[in-house]
Amino acid sequence: MTTTSTALAKINALAAQARRRVWHARDLDWWTPIVAPPGVRVAVYVDLVSQLFWAEQVALHALARMHVELVDGARDFVATQIGDEARHSQVYRGYLERLGDLRPLDPGLGEVFAAVTAWNGPAWGRVVAFNVMLEHEAMHQQQRRIATLPCPLFKQVNTRIAADESRHASFGVLYLEHVVPAASADDKAEVMHWIGRLWASWRAANRGRYQADGEHVLRLDADELERRGHDIVARLAALGLGAEGARHVA
Ligand SMILES: [Fe+2]
Ligand SMILES: [Fe+2]
Repeated sequence: MTTTSTALAKINALAAQARRRVWHARDLDWWTPIVAPPGVRVAVYVDLVSQLFWAEQVALHALARMHVELVDGARDFVATQIGDEARHSQVYRGYLERLGDLRPLDPGLGEVFAAVTAWNGPAWGRVVAFNVMLEHEAMHQQQRRIATLPCPLFKQVNTRIAADESRHASFGVLYLEHVVPAASADDKAEVMHWIGRLWASWRAANRGRYQADGEHVLRLDADELERRGHDIVARLAALGLGAEGARHVA
């Protein structure tokens, strides 16, 4: 594990990298024709993209709190992440405009996002939920969408976004390497108990989606979600949250 001062130095380097690698919606080739996945109704495809759009929008609420509450040395990075997520939501919105529709936020997913913003426990708990759990999930889903969906423009969008999300997830790990060693056993137990409940809600929200014939390409199967849970436990164990993670998340 990185020492806490090295972690802060690495966070600063990530913030500098974020500033160097800022890209713009106009960098994408918006004239590329849209290709919906074969066998999937356009309304369902619109729903998938809409959830990605809403996730980026509501991420900004959690980040507004993080910008205030995280320790000095992390705010610079959070400011770059706010810029990234705002751009991601703008780009998904642009893609939805090409599709000609926007679907509402799924209530189950919305519940998870709202809980992440509402959390009033130890501030680093929000980093576990957002940058470690949800950002790793987002990256996994984006990689899957890049690999399995046929639209060249959507691939361009997700490839750009996934590069940013990977940096946000790295920040989460480094930030926790910086603060978890000093956290009390009670705080760790409180955070992990909450993360366990969040993960259960996330699994439940994803399990019921895209169940109709032909929608398999969009679906996250139960065994895939199970594997994802084990990945999260392993990631938490590497951060010194092993016993609590295994008890509450798996
Ligand atoms: Fe994002
Ligand atoms: Fe992100």
